[in-house]
Amino acid sequence: MSDKMWGGRFAADTDALVEAFTSSIAVDRRLYAEDIRGSLAHARMLGRVGVLTNSEVEAIAQGLVQIRAEIESGHFAFSDRLEDIHMHIESRLIALIGDTGKKLHTGRSRNDQVATDMRLYTRGAIDRLLALLRQLQAVFVDLAEREADTLLPGLTHLQVAQPVTFGHHCMAYVEMFRRDAARLADARKRVNVLPLGAAALAGTTFPIDRWDVARELGFDAVAENSLDAVSDRDFLLEVLAALSIIAVHLSRLAEELIYWMSAALAFIDLPDAFCTGSSIMPQKKNPDVAELIRGKSGKVMGQLTALLILMKGQALAYNRDNQEDKSIFFTALDEVEASLRLLTRMLPGLQTRPKHMRAEAEKGFATATDLADYLVRKGVPFRDAHAVVGTAVRLAQERGIGLEALSLAELQGLSPFIEEDVYGVLSLEGSVAARNHLGGTAPAQVRAAIARARARLQGEGL
Ligand code: ARG
Repeated sequence: MSDKMWGGRFAADTDALVEAFTSSIAVDRRLYAEDIRGSLAHARMLGRVGVLTNSEVEAIAQGLVQIRAEIESGHFAFSDRLEDIHMHIESRLIALIGDTGKKLHTGRSRNDQVATDMRLYTRGAIDRLLALLRQLQAVFVDLAEREADTLLPGLTHLQVAQPVTFGHHCMAYVEMFRRDAARLADARKRVNVLPLGAAALAGTTFPIDRWDVARELGFDAVAENSLDAVSDRDFLLEVLAALSIIAVHLSRLAEELIYWMSAALAFIDLPDAFCTGSSIMPQKKNPDVAELIRGKSGKVMGQLTALLILMKGQALAYNRDNQEDKSIFFTALDEVEASLRLLTRMLPGLQTRPKHMRAEAEKGFATATDLADYLVRKGVPFRDAHAVVGTAVRLAQERGIGLEALSLAELQGLSPFIEEDVYGVLSLEGSVAARNHLGGTAPAQVRAAIARARARLQGEGL
């Protein structure tokens, strides 16, 4: 007979390759605390409804608490022979307290147990991510305040478009991370539902009290269909989608840091502690952290696809395929958490090089739209103004100068509506200051956005 806990109907031992292939302990051991928490709630509920005696509940609880201490102190033996974290804990419980330990699994299956563990773990992960996203937003708000007046060439198509302030650019990331947090907070509502009680798939014959367990574990609701409760992994898909969108944002940020730090632009410098050198080229200082964040973002998105495909076409209810959800989810989660942590530490040390940013904005005729708007204010239709300014840009480009270096006579040769006051709108400072409305790049608006963000981040809201 097999020595497995489920071995009663097996005449032969499991093949060693099968044991290694089906084992998930290397991945799911990180669920130990959630597994024990869930088991404690289950055992106490069984006691309250009279399926276990008080002394049995007490023995089980003591055993579980001891096992938790053993795992946390590193004195717990893990082995592929015991498959997963659930079997490890249960078999250790039986070794510790004897036959009473064999009663813990009454009215429960590993199918509803693992779903419960994953929901508890995911809920904790969301709370950690929300805190990290808040910290990163706070870093960007501080940067925005420091650089509220710093001029940066704003780009479209990677071509110089119009001047913006570096602070405004920072606040764009605050908006992105704020939406990321809102998505996670929304997903959390559907994560925080109790599957336990579904047992293998159909429910149990014992008089369980599922709301009692839900309250004990801090769940807001109880899953209303046992088949769905054990087979549903939508909650992980949603969180992976939110993680993937975070990864998109992180990759865009990483890309900007990388090209801003390129020798050609030299808009910023990143702290030495967050860059690495070359083994052959002594002069190099590379933004490897940003590059790895950009690289790892693809891995995160890949995990969303992996789980979508894992779930696709699975008949109800539980299938062993689902065991793979853990390595998929943990991979994405770990990469995003690490990236958020690193950025939060690295970005306060970012130094801007305003001279280089200004030079690039000037080279790129960033105030051309301001000149067109100026002509419109003098009564010229916008399309005609656009054409006049296009000619001015060509003229300046041929002579290798900026628009502001064209003489008044030259400008008046292009349009008689141009007067001495034109030079006010051709300056970069004038250009950003003029975009002074909610959402605009004017330093005054950036400061207002910073104040709103600070109030939000200090409060409980998202
Ligand atoms: N390790 C398994 C998993 O993660 C636990 C559930 C096993 N259930 C089963 N019927 N074999 O999915």
